[in-house]
Amino acid sequence: MKKHVLIGVCGGIAAYKACDLVSQLSKKDYEIKVLMTKHAAEFVSPLTFESLSHNKCYDDLFNKNIEDPIEHITLAKWADIMVLVPATGNVIAKVVHGIADDFVTTTFLACHTKKMICPAMNVHMYENQVTQDNLSRAKKLGYTIVDAEVGHLACNDTGKGKLASVDTIVKAIDAQFEKEEILKGKNVLITAGPTQEALDPVRFISNHSSGKQGYAIAKAAREMGANVTIVAGPTNLNDLDGVNTIHIKSARDMFEAVKENLDDANYIIMAAAVADYRPEVVADQKIKKNDDCLEIKMVKNPDILKYAGEHKKDNQVICGFAMETENLEENAHKKLVSKNCDMLIANNLFTSGAGFKTDTNVVTLFKNEERIQLPKMSKEELGVKILETLFEIESER
Ligand code: PMT
Repeated sequence: MKKHVLIGVCGGIAAYKACDLVSQLSKKDYEIKVLMTKHAAEFVSPLTFESLSHNKCYDDLFNKNIEDPIEHITLAKWADIMVLVPATGNVIAKVVHGIADDFVTTTFLACHTKKMICPAMNVHMYENQVTQDNLSRAKKLGYTIVDAEVGHLACNDTGKGKLASVDTIVKAIDAQFEKEEILKGKNVLITAGPTQEALDPVRFISNHSSGKQGYAIAKAAREMGANVTIVAGPTNLNDLDGVNTIHIKSARDMFEAVKENLDDANYIIMAAAVADYRPEVVADQKIKKNDDCLEIKMVKNPDILKYAGEHKKDNQVICGFAMETENLEENAHKKLVSKNCDMLIANNLFTSGAGFKTDTNVVTLFKNEERIQLPKMSKEELGVKILETLFEIESER
């Protein structure tokens, strides 16, 4: 079946290149519908897009002559991907803050599928910190950015802001669907972020995990077509569209949420940094500063990964993580075996670009007796690598 691509054209000079994009895509296995902002319609006529896409072009949210009064919702549900091209600074700012005041932005807000932004604007507008912050926010929201290129711009400035080539955008759209197929129908369960172990009503023991690695795996799994559930400790990250997110605080909360979702899961990936111990007693009131020394008795938390390994079913593959500061190889291999994992991803806290909070990771992948040192890559690229390897393990059974 043809994939449905919704193109949102915004008001920039590069709007004319969206015509070529629609033309290229419609020669492939895609059905295209085009939405335009009022500003975009000043640059290119809707009729051009109607001719190229063989579909109606939408530019007026309040058109009284349409049969469907909630057409933006219908279109949002129709789309397998929505692409903003060219995405102006103005429209990027709107969509990352939930502003919905025309056909393109209301549809974008209503869309719960893949979203792609292809920015194009003057170099100073592009480099403005506000635009850069908005693009970072778009990435955090899970949108794919096909970044602008450096070149001679229509305003006669030279610098970054030129729309990526139509070829690059077509390839980026193709890539979204190539990745998709392999995990269709699979349920992926992921843990992410830190746990918080309460000491009293105002204090807790926790760690530095930001949740980025777990969320990046969730995003990759969603893009590969899986049904994704993420059990996440407290993080600053936004929930990902289309991912079932269960928010928890303590290791015991995480354990309960994982147990509830374990039976249905095909791939189980535990990227969370779970506290091994918790205070035995949680004080009802704030602990007062009295003596020079405060002793807290800690008791062991459940080992969630170990539990999953012990209850592993034939249709399940399990990937654990290991955060090490020394003897990475020996400790990681021990965890792989003792927790009955099919694969273990080890990262060392002291390697630059690896571990907590970074957008990249540097890891060693352990699988049976195999040990593969992977180069530094983004946490999302690592997510794809992990999922592809779990798919291979499953296929080899
Ligand atoms: O969140 P980020 O800032 O992106 O950082 C990513 C990360 C460093 C947290 C991630 O890459 C990582 O290494 N996660 C595992 C960290 C960890 O706690 O490792 P561990 O060696 O203590 O635990 C081994 C495995 O057992 C892990 O899969 C862990 O989720 C699991 N575990 C540990 C203890 C416990 N009680 N239950 C568990 O399930």
